[in-house]
Amino acid sequence: IRSDVLERTFAIKWITGFISRSDVWLAAIDVDADQDDEADARSQLVDTASQILSAFSSVEPDDDEAASIIRTFSFSLGVEESKMLDVQLNDAALLSEDHTSVGLQSWGSAIILAERLCKSPDHFGFNMPSGRKLRVLELGAGTGLLSIVAAKLSPSSTVVATDYHPDVLSNLALNVDSNFPRAPSHDSVSVHKLDWESPSFEAPFDQPFDVILAADVVYNPQHAQWIHDCVERLLTKPGSDDVHSRRSGDGGVGVFWLIIPLRSIGRHEGLYETVDAVFGDAERQRGSETGWKLAILERQELQRHAGGVGRVDEAGYRLFKIGWAR
Ligand SMILES: C[S@@+](CC[C@H](N)C(=O)[O-])C[C@H]1O[C@@H](n2cnc3c(N)ncnc32)[C@H](O)[C@@H]1O
Repeated sequence: IRSDVLERTFAIKWITGFISRSDVWLAAIDVDADQDDEADARSQLVDTASQILSAFSSVEPDDDEAASIIRTFSFSLGVEESKMLDVQLNDAALLSEDHTSVGLQSWGSAIILAERLCKSPDHFGFNMPSGRKLRVLELGAGTGLLSIVAAKLSPSSTVVATDYHPDVLSNLALNVDSNFPRAPSHDSVSVHKLDWESPSFEAPFDQPFDVILAADVVYNPQHAQWIHDCVERLLTKPGSDDVHSRRSGDGGVGVFWLIIPLRSIGRHEGLYETVDAVFGDAERQRGSETGWKLAILERQELQRHAGGVGRVDEAGYRLFKIGWAR
């Protein structure tokens, strides 16, 4: 289908029609009539259809390798539209049987946040004046887009890209190597296993991080809580001497940038709400007797891209700035 234009056009048309009618089809389930299994099966089909459709968009097939796809991303740097930052990523086979290896593909959220990082690196803390190297961590890095962009934007930083799935980690290391062919191994971005559910905090996780990035990592009811607990441990805390004057993001205090898609249909529908429930607003933490707590400092709603970035079940995106409050 990837190489046959006629077949591809037909498939895209058919799947687009299927997805556009899926609301009616999903709503036709009678929940009172104990049709939960049928509802799940239908949601999964819509999910799979969206996945196939998204893989057709903005992807140039690599001639030699039918199983994987090399995607090239080009982001404008700062306000100068002419300066670009390029990243090449290996996205693995489209219909992997292993549903836990979702990190073998680059997702819309990561692309949208990468674009913003390149546009205004200062806003995300990348040009922070400090006497030491900036430490950047990516959680659930998948193909590594955000880590690679971070290392290109701020070559003097220490960037650590993490994931938990063995195949995803191998592909991530491959992507790092192909984007920094001349850098000694691990000098640009180092790749490490970090499982949010059972993290181990040995080096390089024994030192805190100034910037933590994560894209599309909340698609299970427990993810937000696991991620909260990791970030609580790994994000640079306000210093004890000047705690009253510093807030997250104000020179030297860590910030966690989290972007998630707003999925309004399918299996992961509404899970984005767990981020608000787990982290809470800064207001909620104010006056807390128990010291600094993580809280949502800012929330921004982002539109879907007109250019075919992101799966069709992603109605938009929400970018959270999370940091310390009390
Ligand atoms: C939907 S993918 C997003 C990947 C990448 N951030 C992107 O946006 O393209 C979710 C990622 O989270 C990773 N992940 C899922 N559960 C995890 C866990 N318990 N610990 C660490 N990573 C996990 C997956 O392996 C996958 O790479």
